[in-house]
This record gives sequence, structure tokens and C-alpha cells, in this order.
Amino acid sequence: MFKFISLAERLDFLEAVRFLAERAKIMLPESDDPQEEERARLKQRILDINLLAARFFNEAINSRHGEAAAGYLNKRGISQSTVRRFGLGFSYNEWDSLYKYLKAQGITEGEMLKSGLVLQSRSGQMYDRFKGRLMFPIFDVRGNVIGFGGRVLDDSLPKYMNSPETPAYNKRKHLYALNFAKNSEDTGLIIVEGYMDVISLHQSGITNVVASLGTALTESQGRILKKYADEIIISYDADTAGQAATLRGLELLNDIGCSVRVLSVPDGKDPDDYIRKNGPDRFRKLAENALPLVEYKIRMLKNEHDLDKTDGRIAFLNKAAGVMAKVDNVVEREMYIKKLSREYEISEEAMLSEVIRRTRPAGRQSLKLAKAVEAAKRSASPAESIEAKLIQNERFILSLLCVDNSIYKTLKEIFDIDQYTGGENRKTAQILYRRMEERKGTTPAELLNIVSAEESDEYARILNEECHCDDNQKAILGKIRDIEKLKMESRRDKVIELLKNESSLAEGEEAKLKLELKNLMQEINAINYKNLSREGRGK
Ligand code: GTP
Ligand code: MN
Repeated sequence: MFKFISLAERLDFLEAVRFLAERAKIMLPESDDPQEEERARLKQRILDINLLAARFFNEAINSRHGEAAAGYLNKRGISQSTVRRFGLGFSYNEWDSLYKYLKAQGITEGEMLKSGLVLQSRSGQMYDRFKGRLMFPIFDVRGNVIGFGGRVLDDSLPKYMNSPETPAYNKRKHLYALNFAKNSEDTGLIIVEGYMDVISLHQSGITNVVASLGTALTESQGRILKKYADEIIISYDADTAGQAATLRGLELLNDIGCSVRVLSVPDGKDPDDYIRKNGPDRFRKLAENALPLVEYKIRMLKNEHDLDKTDGRIAFLNKAAGVMAKVDNVVEREMYIKKLSREYEISEEAMLSEVIRRTRPAGRQSLKLAKAVEAAKRSASPAESIEAKLIQNERFILSLLCVDNSIYKTLKEIFDIDQYTGGENRKTAQILYRRMEERKGTTPAELLNIVSAEESDEYARILNEECHCDDNQKAILGKIRDIEKLKMESRRDKVIELLKNESSLAEGEEAKLKLELKNLMQEINAINYKNLSREGRGK
């Protein structure tokens, strides 16, 4: 039975137990703590009172007293069956009709006050909280009435009043209509601002919709949403308050690992207005086309900047790079970079290096990097032999390529894959060059993934300590010169070695080697001289 209920009602085991216990009127012990026990009893009592009140309000809307409210709902296109499904009602336009009703049902004044439905004036007079309002019962996932929202029937203020916090109701922990939405056939959940938006959408057959009860989305609400849906679509009002709320909600959901998109209703309408005018199919289209977080943020940035002016474009692109730097998924990030660079006619490489520059300072990756740097420092042996120096220089080139993809043009021209000689470098270069050829770009994180575990520590150190050049192009050319010199030195040593064993040399070989050695020495000296004079100028 528990299994059946948890599947049918999409409740977890404990919720299913509570659901059945409530149906059977069995009180579950909440804990051994007598205070907790008392609190649980009070909560149950408030739920009972709320249910009585909901029935009272609902009967009123179907009676002569509730004609105005029923007419109002009718005018807004809400059907009889929707009124029944959502348990809508009307609170009498009198001071104490609910109070009197509850009293007649044997509810004590103390309990009424704790339910928040009844208040007490200074003179001791008891009076109803909700008066002359359209009543929206708020259900928890198991269908208990935990509180109410009440709307005026005209333009007077406040438009809505809600139940206060009680042992049964915490607005930060509940979502309006989740009890219905969790059983929806549609995948994902759409979150809207208002009661009326939820009701209107459900009535049109779009039932995967909830509202956040008039507060900014909280983390508890986010976690509940995540439990019921893989993807969440936010559709808040287009006004500035709504936009700010949308952004906060998005960040929050994104931070707890939900996939989120933003549905913007055109012309500043709310979802209720829109669906009444355009019907459910058009609304579903809007949901299909909802923008992913990054694209939404970029669109907001576009609206904030004047893209016809150079200053505006630069500011926009810098901020956009900041947005993209926060995208963890490399493939996704590259997709946005491609899209944006195409749209604004900037080179992908320039955009990418801007993004990468911003990814370094904070976040998980740099923590990983910092740890790797520590490990490398402990185990690093100084690059002594020419061979070791070659490996290090080539690694620097590969690292800088990942930091600044724009140097690939130079590398392709003057330092191709065959020129890598040390260790695993040629293999690594092959992968990175291929990615560049396929215009996919590459990143430091990717480099660390490609190379072996032993190598990645050293790469992390190079990325962190050496790849901050003023001019990457110059740095690369300098390294390539160093490598050429090292290769000549290596060949020089080899030739000297060969000449030492002159007896084993074929005829004419000795003369050839001697000539080669002479040329090598000259070239090495020339490079040394150039380097010296360059350093001199530098200082
Ligand atoms: P309609 O104007 O009837 O279409 O209502 P709505 O549901 O579209 O509400 P609106 O978009 O104006 O506000 C969104 C939500 O914010 C409401 O459903 C309430 O939960 C909450 N809210 C709005 N106005 C008030 C108010 O005056 N007081 C309180 N406490 N909450 C409000
Ligand atoms: Mn509305």
C-alpha cells in the first residue's frame, strides 16, 4: 500500500506514510520529545481548522453571499470545475462570520488564534483575518490545507493577504499547486508568480505549473522543485522587480544543480493574460523556446548596453565574457562563444581568451589547479639536461595555446606537430592541434584532462606560474627560438660525441661532421649574442 501510494501520488516513503496516516486519522509520533509531540498535535489541529475554513469559504462562494466573487471569477474565465478543483472560496464581508462558525464547531479561541485565521483586538474582540476576499486555499504535497491567500475583488489594497506563518504553514517551504503539478503528464515544472497564473494555466491543460507564494524563490523551494523535475522553467513578470526575481531564482536553481530556462511572455503580459488571449498551444510554444540561463543573461546585457556605439559593444562583450566564464561545461561554453562571436563579428579566439582570462581567478577549477601546483612543487626536479629543457619548453607552448587560442595561427606556421620531440608532447599536441583545426578551441581544463596524471601536475604549475605573459605572441616566438637553440645544442653534443670516436667513422664522414659542428657553433653563438643584446635592451 505504501509503495502504491508513493508511486501514484509521487511521494517519498515517509510522505506516503504520513499521507495514509492522515487518511486513516492515525497520529504518527513525530518524535520522543514531548515538546515536539505537542507541536505536531497543534499542527494537526490547525490543519483541521483550515479544512473547516476552506469548506466554509467554498460554500459561501456557491451561495447568495458569494455572488460577487463567483461573478468575478466568471469574468476572469475561471470555470465551475476549476473552482471545485482548487477549492476556491469567499470570505464573508462581515467581521466575525468564520469565528462564529469555528466556535460552533467546537474550536477553542486559542486554537483559532494559532491558526492565524482569527485575530484579537486590544479590547479582546475576536475578528476574522480575511474579509470580503476571494479565497485560495494553499495545499501541501499531500493535499492538506496549510494556509490561505485572499484577493480583493476590486482594485483596493492590499491586493492579496496571506496566512501568517504557523506550525502548519511556512511560505518559504511550499509551492502553490505542487500537489497537482507533481502528477502532471508534462515533463519539467514551470514556476510562475501568481495564484491566478497557476489556476489559469491548469485550467487550460498546462498542469506542470506552480507558484512561489509571493516571495522570492527560496533554497528550500528550489530543492523541492529539483526533487520533482529535472528541468525548471521560470516565468516571472517582465517588470524590473520580476526580472530581478527571475535572475535570483535562476542563480539559485542553477547553484543547486537544476537545469533552468526562462520563459518570457511577450508584451509585458503575465501568463494568465497571455493564455486567455492566445490559448495553451501558443503558451507551450513559448515554453519550448524558453531561454537557457546564459542566453537569458546575455539578452539582459544586450538590453542594458547601446550596441551601436563602440564603447557599448566593448562593455557588453566584456560582461558577456564574464557570464560565459561561469559556464562549467566546456562544450556548452564553446557553443555560446561561437554563437556570440559570429553575431558580433569578433574572432572566436579573442572571445575565448577573454572568457578564459575570467575563468582563472575563482571557482573549482583554480582550486584544483592550486592543489596540483602544490603537488608539483614538492616533486619537481629542475630541468637540467637539454632533453628535460626541451620537454619543459614544449609544455609551455602547449599550455599557452590553451590559455590563448589565438597563438595557434603562429604555431601552425612555424611549429608543427613533428617538431615536438619530448616525452608525451607530440601526442598532446596532436590532440590540441586537431581541436583547433576543427575550430572547437581548447582550454586549460581540457589540457589537464588530456595529459597523464604525472604530467598534469607540472602542466598545472606552468599554467599557473608561467602563462601570464604581456604578449603571448612574443612569448611563443621566444620559446620557439629557445627550442631551436636547444635542438642545435643537442645536435652539437651529439656531433662532438661522434667525433670523439673517429675510428668508427666512415671515409669523408669526419670532414662533414666537422663542418656541421662549425655551423652549429656559429648559429648558437649568433642566437646567444642576439639574446644578450635583447636582454640588454630589456634592462
Ligand atoms: P491578479 O492580479 O488577480 O491576476 O493576481 P496574480 O496572481 O497575477 O498576482 P500578481 O502577479 O499581482 O502577484 C503575484 C503574487 O504575488 C500573488 O499571487 C501573491 O501571491 C503575491 N502578491 C501580490 N500582491 C500582493 C500583496 O499585496 N500582498 C501580498 N502579501 N502578496 C501579494
Ligand atoms: Mn495576474
